[in-house]
Amino acid sequence: MANNIFGIILAGGQGTRMGNAERPKQFMEIGKKPIIIHTIEKFAIHSAFDKVIVLSPRAWISHTRDLIRKYIPRSSNVVVVQGGSTRNETIMNGIRYIEENFGLDDNTIIVTHDSVRPFVSHRMIEENIRAAQECGACDTVIPATDTIVESAGHQFISSIPDRSTMYQGQTPQSFRAKKLRDIYESLTATEKQILTDACKILVLKGEKVQLVEGDVTNIKITYPSDIRLAEALMEGK
Ligand code: CTP
Repeated sequence: MANNIFGIILAGGQGTRMGNAERPKQFMEIGKKPIIIHTIEKFAIHSAFDKVIVLSPRAWISHTRDLIRKYIPRSSNVVVVQGGSTRNETIMNGIRYIEENFGLDDNTIIVTHDSVRPFVSHRMIEENIRAAQECGACDTVIPATDTIVESAGHQFISSIPDRSTMYQGQTPQSFRAKKLRDIYESLTATEKQILTDACKILVLKGEKVQLVEGDVTNIKITYPSDIRLAEALMEGK
């Protein structure tokens, strides 16, 4: 039976901060498997998803398919589609795929997740689905540990918000897909450029976005030092 719930794995980036010209960071290995495979596995084993849509750069689509065939041979509910020029455009490509192949209605839920966060847990995915169904949108966060210092001019402090109300955003971020798409399409080109975070789009348009508890181990692999951290976390498991 169709649940009308889809996983969207965002792997359309180039990983420039990793400084790895050879291949985008999601294809680098930790614990003897590509990072993207660790992440897809977490979604592929979850029974709630009608489909898990992996969006990768055009030049890497067939490589991504090969990896999935090799490491997750029984992954019949995983499909690879071309990503977009920005993270949000990649999400929109995922929504377009759902619309063309399954149809889109007000209750279609997407759980979007960075391909480079391989430590996402079953609980986080579960709570994302529930929160998106109840509230329409949710963001996975952890309480800020460091004091956040804001500096508008990058030289002096302009404000120090109360740390007890500050959180750090992770992923998954989950949404009623149609609402996210409709609001995104109503943005101007400049707004699209500024609003790089999908949850921020909804917040600025006055929509409620519920918090889901993340975890400090749910790291995003961004810099070379994160690879070493991820290896250590993987070994600790
Ligand atoms: N992403 C995507 N499509 C894009 C850009 C980013 O799907 N056009 C994905 C990345 O593949 C990654 C996630 O969004 O899994 C988080 O983005 P980030 O860590 O910034 O990845 P990159 O854009 O690849 O990294 P960098 O900014 O260092 O180039």
